Amino acid sequence: MIRINAFSLLHHNTFGIDAQARQYIEYASEEELTAILPALAGERFFHIGEGSNLLFTQDYDGIMLHSGLRGIQLLEETDADVVVRVGAGERFDDLIAWSVRLGWSGIENLSHIPGEAGAAAVQNIGAYGVEVKDVIERVHAVDLQSGERRTFSNADCHYAYRQSIFKQELRGRYAVTYVDLRLSKTFTPHLDYGNVRASLPEGAELTPHLVRQVITAIRREKLPEPGEVGSAGSFFMNPVVSEQTFRTLQASYPAMPHYATAGGVKIPAGWMIDQCGWKGQTLGRAGVHAKQALVLINCGGATGAEVVALSDRIRADVKQRFGVDIHPEVNIL
Ligand code: EPU
Repeated sequence: MIRINAFSLLHHNTFGIDAQARQYIEYASEEELTAILPALAGERFFHIGEGSNLLFTQDYDGIMLHSGLRGIQLLEETDADVVVRVGAGERFDDLIAWSVRLGWSGIENLSHIPGEAGAAAVQNIGAYGVEVKDVIERVHAVDLQSGERRTFSNADCHYAYRQSIFKQELRGRYAVTYVDLRLSKTFTPHLDYGNVRASLPEGAELTPHLVRQVITAIRREKLPEPGEVGSAGSFFMNPVVSEQTFRTLQASYPAMPHYATAGGVKIPAGWMIDQCGWKGQTLGRAGVHAKQALVLINCGGATGAEVVALSDRIRADVKQRFGVDIHPEVNIL
């Protein structure tokens, strides 16, 4: 177990915000986790992963918990697929690299997304037509109040776009310990999002490894490189509006990109922010990425408050121009 007081969070959030936690605890096993639970009673605490979807607006006067549960284990294997168990503290992209090396598929479209496996299951990470919920079998977790272990089936997790029960009814209640995923031995590529298909090199054999390479290249082109420019990926979620609202908007903005979903029509917030003229603009030391308006960046030394000020201005402009509310995807602490 690692326990550090007055812990700098600077290298534990991809936005690169210089904040401090009163204490940081990293546990290396489920037993260590349950052993520290009594110390959490009555304390303010928050469970972090790699800090790639977080914005600190102040020092954290409480305990930052982090999972040191790592490892990938093969649970089941048939001719068609495998079920693997991954520790919550394992980097999700390392799991993908391992999976494609073995020729297994299902998560290659999620390549190069920063973050750990536990957080991936909480946030239902998604990119290029795939969400992690598509391959999750079970999520194992510990109740941070009672210490009880619980296994959630995929259906129990109530997955939706960037949502799960762990972000809603059970927010802050459980620490994910392991995630079981089903990967396929037969490759069904998902190439129909954006320019994925068009980016495939001509004549190359289509493999999960190739798709991983192509997706990684697209992300490197569009998104700030983690470690070079501070950001938390998409800052906002894409809003879903009613059919009727969409038709009214489309009458004024015929070029508006849109995707039909079960709950209505999804409109890319990045497109609306771009239309408002924010792409590449800055406010204080916070800015809007020049290649993807959905991504807010730290231009160097920004505080969380500066990023929130920029976010508020953008939200107000989008609301004024399109009448649509957009909401941060990033956890603001
Ligand atoms: N667009 C613009 N201008 C911009 C940005 C986007 O016009 O500055 C337009 C694009 O041309 C396109 C549409 O908006 O027609 C959608 O853009 P894009 O394909 O880049 O995807 P997105 O909706 O902006 C989402 C995810 C990303 C994910 C991509 C690809 C959310 C909140 N974001 O972005 O996820 O990589 O799709 O699947 O759903 C993340 O969550 O951190 C993230 C990067």
